[in-house]
Amino acid sequence: MKKPAIFSTMLITSLALLVTACGSSPSTGGASSSPQPKVESSSSAKPSEAPTASPANGKDQVVNIYTARHYEVDSQVYAAFTKKTGIKVNEIKGTAEELVERLKREGTSSEADLFVTVDGGVLNYAKQNGVLQAITSPVIEQNVPKQWRDKDNNWIGIATRARVIVYAKDRVKPEQLSTYEDLATDKWKGKVLARSATSLYNQSLVASFVELDGEAKAEAWAKGIATNLARKPEGGDRDQAKAIAAKVGDVAIMNTYYVGQMLASKDAEEVKVAQNIGVFFPNQSTTGTHLNISGAGLTKNAKNKDNAIKLIEFVTSKEGQTILTQGSFEFPVNETADKPELLKTWGTFKTQQIDFAKLGDHNKKATEILNKVGWK
Ligand SMILES: [Fe+2]
Repeated sequence: MKKPAIFSTMLITSLALLVTACGSSPSTGGASSSPQPKVESSSSAKPSEAPTASPANGKDQVVNIYTARHYEVDSQVYAAFTKKTGIKVNEIKGTAEELVERLKREGTSSEADLFVTVDGGVLNYAKQNGVLQAITSPVIEQNVPKQWRDKDNNWIGIATRARVIVYAKDRVKPEQLSTYEDLATDKWKGKVLARSATSLYNQSLVASFVELDGEAKAEAWAKGIATNLARKPEGGDRDQAKAIAAKVGDVAIMNTYYVGQMLASKDAEEVKVAQNIGVFFPNQSTTGTHLNISGAGLTKNAKNKDNAIKLIEFVTSKEGQTILTQGSFEFPVNETADKPELLKTWGTFKTQQIDFAKLGDHNKKATEILNKVGWK
């Protein structure tokens, strides 16, 4: 099997960093800031306690999850599952790269039943490395449309997110915005804010352009953005919104859910920042807005297979999806979910139509492009 470009040796370090550094502060919001994946429990096990894999017919029913997601609401979803079923959920957190390597190393002795992460490219990387297995569940197939599942059901989408343009409401009119490509023209010189090129979010965005438009156009776009940057990239997506509020720049590239999380924040300053930015879904009359996915896969050596499948059935159910998206502000994969009002105000939008696996396939090229054009 062809080794996917996404994890060439030179990229391992940066990928480990970027999968961690999703939040505004990697030290507080990352999936793991320590080299050793830590164990957390959404149920009654002590946080420091190593999970014990139990047979499905044993008294102590569990599901052990290796997760690279960094959103607090995930634990709330798992707690709701435990309350409903009595099945305990243990979360072992780490970067996606760490966890896939761990699954490979542990082989049949692995305690993990599920692998959970953001990014379709990473989900496919796990599949290509043979650490997942197909899930058979009519319930999941009912809950999750085909477009949000791996074609072999090696992973199941649990939520999606769009990477959009946000703008200063007091200085930019939405009519001035149109496409990602427009953001790379002279019109926006010195006004664009974006996080570092080490961010998987930006790499996957460029990878999507490689897939849709070819390498040359993707590079020209990245060069245009690098030229238009209002400042050297710094911080996470939230920090780009804060820089708009501070009038460092007028427009930023940002994932949709951060806007919702900031509006719901306990930090009054974050709420104010989010209230003063508008959300614009680019490329509506062309290739569509860039969309990425979070997903869960059953590990190849899962010892609590039935419980693990039950958990994905719950996470993708109306109830699970409602809890998840009300907390994370991601888009549900199950349309019956009661999603946040904010998402309803955004309405429907045209999305890029590409195979998520392509994001991983083009990751190396995208990273090369970003380095070449000086998007640090
Ligand atoms: Fe994130």
